[in-house]
Amino acid sequence: MTALDTLAGSAVAGTLYGVGVGPGDVRYLTLRAAGLVRAVDVLAYFAKKGMPGNARRIVAPLVDAGRIERRFEYPLTDEVPAESIEYRQQLGAFYCETAETLAALLRQGKSVGLLAEGDPFFYGSFMHMWRRLVPDFPVEVVPGVTGMSGCWTRANVPMTWGNDTLAVLPGTLGEEQLVERLRRTDAAVIMKVGRNLGKVRRAVEAAGLLKRAVYVERGTMQDERILPLADCSEPVGAYFATVLIPGEGRRL
Ligand SMILES: C[S@@+](CC[C@H](N)C(=O)[O-])C[C@H]1O[C@@H](n2cnc3c(N)ncnc32)[C@H](O)[C@@H]1O
Repeated sequence: MTALDTLAGSAVAGTLYGVGVGPGDVRYLTLRAAGLVRAVDVLAYFAKKGMPGNARRIVAPLVDAGRIERRFEYPLTDEVPAESIEYRQQLGAFYCETAETLAALLRQGKSVGLLAEGDPFFYGSFMHMWRRLVPDFPVEVVPGVTGMSGCWTRANVPMTWGNDTLAVLPGTLGEEQLVERLRRTDAAVIMKVGRNLGKVRRAVEAAGLLKRAVYVERGTMQDERILPLADCSEPVGAYFATVLIPGEGRRL
């Protein structure tokens, strides 16, 4: 057993672990997360159709050949609006089936580590498993460095000073709602920018914040891109894209 394994602790039979794997660079995993990735009986993760799975890709350097893994493929992701009946029905059924599969493994006494990008309790699919399984099984959640934290670190942008308020806004909100929320905050993080990039840019401009806004694509990942939002003319961005608007509060 290595010093890391001793520090990170072991995995307990029949327990579900929500393992936050951070924003993209494997070096930002916590000791507990790295220890669990190596210790759990079953490594589970979500993935978009035909893709390797971002959380799984992040932990690849820690996974030895021959590990037992379960891949859960989303029937759809951002192809249809999250408010549509199709999205709710298909994703709802998918999460139910996935929870049943995980429950069966837990009943067999397996420890299961479900990987989550960033932090599991922050806009994470893991939460849909947590709410279905926590009444019947022991669950431990391991916090992770959030995507937004990785983004502002790589962009070298301090976000909140003194009494600054920070709003975290999904780019999926309507344009008017985005403008209204942006006008009421000192600093903002806009997540889920991807297909909403054009709308997000218009809203930031309408709120008079374009000069301060930074666009971060795949922060901390190998193909990271960071540029002023004002220089971002494409209507659609990467799935992993975040807009940062730093506060301008008290500086001493
Ligand atoms: C479903 S949310 C998951 C958030 C994740 N649980 C977290 O703690 O950051 C996905 C959104 O997070 C943002 N995001 C996560 N990681 C990112 C990264 N490395 N670079 C840029 N944006 C990221 C993007 O806005 C993306 O659309």
